[in-house]
Amino acid sequence: MNIEIPAGLTDLLQGYTVEVLRQRPDDLVDFAVQYFSRLREEKQLELLRDGARKTHVNFGGDEQPMQTDSNGEEDEEDDDDDSDFEPPVINRFNRRVSVCAEAFNPDDEEEDTEPRVVHPKTDEQRCRLQEACKDILLFKTLDQEQLSQVLDAMFERKVIPQEHVIDQGDDGDNFYVIERGQYDIFVSKDGADVRVGHYDNRGSFGELALMYNTPRAATIVATSEGALWALDRNTFRRLILKNNAQKRKTYELFIESVPILKSLEVSERMKIVDVIGERSYQDGERIITQGEQADCFFIVESGEVKIMIKSKTKTGQENNQEVEVTRCSSGQYFGELALVTNRPRAASAYAVGNVKCLVMDVQAFERLLGPCMDIMKRNISHYEEQLVSLFGSSMDIKDPGN
Ligand code: CMP
Ligand code: CMP
Repeated sequence: MNIEIPAGLTDLLQGYTVEVLRQRPDDLVDFAVQYFSRLREEKQLELLRDGARKTHVNFGGDEQPMQTDSNGEEDEEDDDDDSDFEPPVINRFNRRVSVCAEAFNPDDEEEDTEPRVVHPKTDEQRCRLQEACKDILLFKTLDQEQLSQVLDAMFERKVIPQEHVIDQGDDGDNFYVIERGQYDIFVSKDGADVRVGHYDNRGSFGELALMYNTPRAATIVATSEGALWALDRNTFRRLILKNNAQKRKTYELFIESVPILKSLEVSERMKIVDVIGERSYQDGERIITQGEQADCFFIVESGEVKIMIKSKTKTGQENNQEVEVTRCSSGQYFGELALVTNRPRAASAYAVGNVKCLVMDVQAFERLLGPCMDIMKRNISHYEEQLVSLFGSSMDIKDPGN
């Protein structure tokens, strides 16, 4: 009997199988319902879009999909250059480009009509993803729609100890958000890999190669079993770069006016804008807690921040009573001390009225603020003087811990 296999059937089932293998859902039937419903929604959306623009998408047919470059010329899809690339669920929408593709122009309106990458997730996965992403600074300035596109496009990646998630010098494929696990950061210096930092169950990495179209700037190695959420290069560039272009416009003038950043080149200041996030606090809200581990640095954008420190008794015991030591206003920074000394937070910080802060993670702080370090260290000596005048003795805030 001659059975004709309908065009597209193989691709359709293959896409489903790949996603099952990647996500290992508990219930295959439930997962199939989710997967194919999403696929149908996307197909309907695409039909609507097709009315508005001429595309070369091909749903499950035999022809190879084509992609349109920024000059409006068609390139054959390059299938060989990114074997690590995780195919999104909806294969026809994933117009793969070489990782060496031309820089994306964030102002190009055409890019807004780019098909979306969607990786279906169970409710449980979505909860874990949202929890992992809630403090990711790069996502802080996205609007609701942009954030939901980012979350839709993310997919899970499990790692084992000693696995190299990223190797310095490689092309950038994905941006990663850490759900759990420990990861070491190595940067090659004079031919040797030097451990320059680590991630402990939180944070994100892999943005630099995608933002600046450069090779990976560091090697990231898992030192425990762990779980990551990955965002593909195209979606990252389409959404995060577009947002960064806006961020540069929003913060350029303010960043120029921040005294501690004056010694940096303009391009270095813009790199800071690219990686900062904005956090808002209400009157009285605690921003930093004395004694806690530190993972970020703050610049006050608007409002006032009160720095409070627990005083000591005559015998040197810590007293629970907090004493105000200083206030920081717009353009001033705080939260650098624990990062510089590698010790717990030396004081607590509270919002006075409504406050907005620009926030940078410790990795970006170390990478980008090296030229400001001397000034910061000099200012740290003033803290000791402040404490001596307040409590009559120094509180040993300066010596690096461990
Ligand atoms: P990327 O260059 O894409 O890949 C390696 C990632 O390591 C890099 O992005 C940063 O997210 C992260 N990283 C952390 N610390 C450093 C550092 N000191 N220098 C370069 N990259 C770093
Ligand atoms: P960090 O220790 O990371 O967190 C609390 C911050 O309060 C600290 O960094 C400084 O930025 C800031 N601070 C301001 N004045 C003082 C002070 N006299 N002693 C300690 N921290 C201070």
